[in-house]
Amino acid sequence: MPSLPSSLEPYWRTSVELPSFPKLEEDIRTDVAIIGGGISGITTAYLLAKKGVRVALLEADRLLNGTTGHTTAKITAQHDIIYDEFIQHLGQEKAKLYYEACMDALRFIRNTVEQHDIDCDFMEQDAYIYTTSSDSLTKLINEWKAYEKLGIEGAFVETIPLPIPAKAAVVMKNQAQFHPLKYLMKLVDTVVQAGGKIYEYTPAADIEQGQALTVVTRDKKRVTCEHVVICSHFPFYDGGFYFSRMYAERSYVLGVKIAETYPGGMYLSADTPKRSVRYTTMNGENLILIGGENHKTGQGVPTMRHYESLQSFASELFTVTDIPYRWSAQDLTTLDKVPYIGNMTADTPNIYVATGYRKWGMTNGTVAGLLISDLILGRDNRYRDLYTPSRFYADPSVKHFLTQNIDVAKHLVEGKIEVAVRKPEDLANGEGAVVTVNGKRAGAYKDESGTLFIVDTTCTHMGCELEWNSGDRTWDCPCHGSRFSIHGDVVEGPAQRPLNKIEDYPS
Ligand SMILES: Cc1cc2nc3c(=O)[nH]c(=O)nc-3n(C[C@H](O)[C@H](O)[C@H](O)COP(=O)(O)OP(=O)(O)OC[C@H]3O[C@@H](n4cnc5c(N)ncnc54)[C@H](O)[C@@H]3O)c2cc1C
Ligand code: FES
Repeated sequence: MPSLPSSLEPYWRTSVELPSFPKLEEDIRTDVAIIGGGISGITTAYLLAKKGVRVALLEADRLLNGTTGHTTAKITAQHDIIYDEFIQHLGQEKAKLYYEACMDALRFIRNTVEQHDIDCDFMEQDAYIYTTSSDSLTKLINEWKAYEKLGIEGAFVETIPLPIPAKAAVVMKNQAQFHPLKYLMKLVDTVVQAGGKIYEYTPAADIEQGQALTVVTRDKKRVTCEHVVICSHFPFYDGGFYFSRMYAERSYVLGVKIAETYPGGMYLSADTPKRSVRYTTMNGENLILIGGENHKTGQGVPTMRHYESLQSFASELFTVTDIPYRWSAQDLTTLDKVPYIGNMTADTPNIYVATGYRKWGMTNGTVAGLLISDLILGRDNRYRDLYTPSRFYADPSVKHFLTQNIDVAKHLVEGKIEVAVRKPEDLANGEGAVVTVNGKRAGAYKDESGTLFIVDTTCTHMGCELEWNSGDRTWDCPCHGSRFSIHGDVVEGPAQRPLNKIEDYPS
């Protein structure tokens, strides 16, 4: 069987040449400051710039290097088994609105591709959710009943085109897939043509609220504006206790080449562990994207095992001839599974947030752009109440709020009392682990040449203890999903500050 590559670069980023933008070096004024250069930020900037609004988009790193650069890019309203649950918890009307919002987003992407003639491998595909176990069959039957109630165009079938012994599947017709970066680069280009400003390597650190709003960057540059849109994945400015209302889950992707002809379609298993399959084309050949192995960030088995499980699954399905890609990323889930899109709190009318897409941000990130641009332009949007972050549905929110925060408390305590027996010098080259340094818990990584990088493993967000992620070579927090590099730099928030480095350890 072909081996796993050591590179963690996703296919999307290696197959395009991304434009680069300057760092913000001076104080500026604009109408709208948008924080974050993923699908939500770029779609919002595109829609506003097209209407003549002055926008400035600030990106902490490079554009499209966050979750959007690491997605599998199915564009669908089939967001796992969800409609039966939404009917029970939110009611039929809101469940239908959710479906319609996602279908509007799909149509918007299709129309934008046509309007700008974007060469982004956009292709209609049917989406399947299937089960191989009798346990999930009832759930699937109930989901199909929900489709019928909501008038969703689909089918209940007993076999699927993939060589998987499925017991049944629910199909959602006429969904789509694309190359997300090729699509979004055209939107970026349109923003620039319309006079919008884009800055890379410009992390936003704070928002000052006065007569106007001012975004203050980590380098103390000031962006004064009327509106701020926070599309930084985890909100970089948390005025709404978002950290206690969401959790982060990682999942893994392999890009594999196969000897067989791929039958078409996008697939997701209803079973545990999750499996996702779609294809794309790479230099005229099919590249099959195999995804799954979800787990809460910083929790679970050593992360390399997740890639190995996907590798086994791929070889059960196909004759795998090469595995040129592997990558992983995380997304956020809200208490009731509906994203938070709208005013950050009821008291902050000009600060907006867009987050919590539960791994369905191609449609929901587009919904965010459409909804927030309407709010800023003073236009009605019928999805406003469904997505408003200020909503509260007692069921299931209370239960999930308690579960999430009890889990955080458990990890806060567990990490502090755990005793690491290893020392930095015990590590092999290329290995990372929790170790003991001067009697205290620390994190060490020894690179391939034997150089040690040691950090204090106490998360700078709220003090939980980090775990080693061997698959991505990062330090991950089990509480709210912050991630840090081997040098201690923040890779993903909510943490804003780097880890303390331990530099005086003898090598
Ligand atoms: C493995 C995987 C597979 C997925 N597959 C699918 C799929 O098939 N279909 C689907 O619909 N969805 C899928 N998703 C979900 C989807 O990719 C995400 O929901 C979506 O990309 C999130 O977009 P975003 O713009 O909110 O965040 P991001 O793309 O993460 O963008 C946020 C940006 O903000 C920047 N940032 C952070 N902090 C700051 C700051 N302080 N200042 C400035 N910038 C900042 C980050 O650097 C980043 O570039 C998948 C997710 C994962 C993890
Ligand atoms: S992310 Fe909140 S404590 Fe680490």
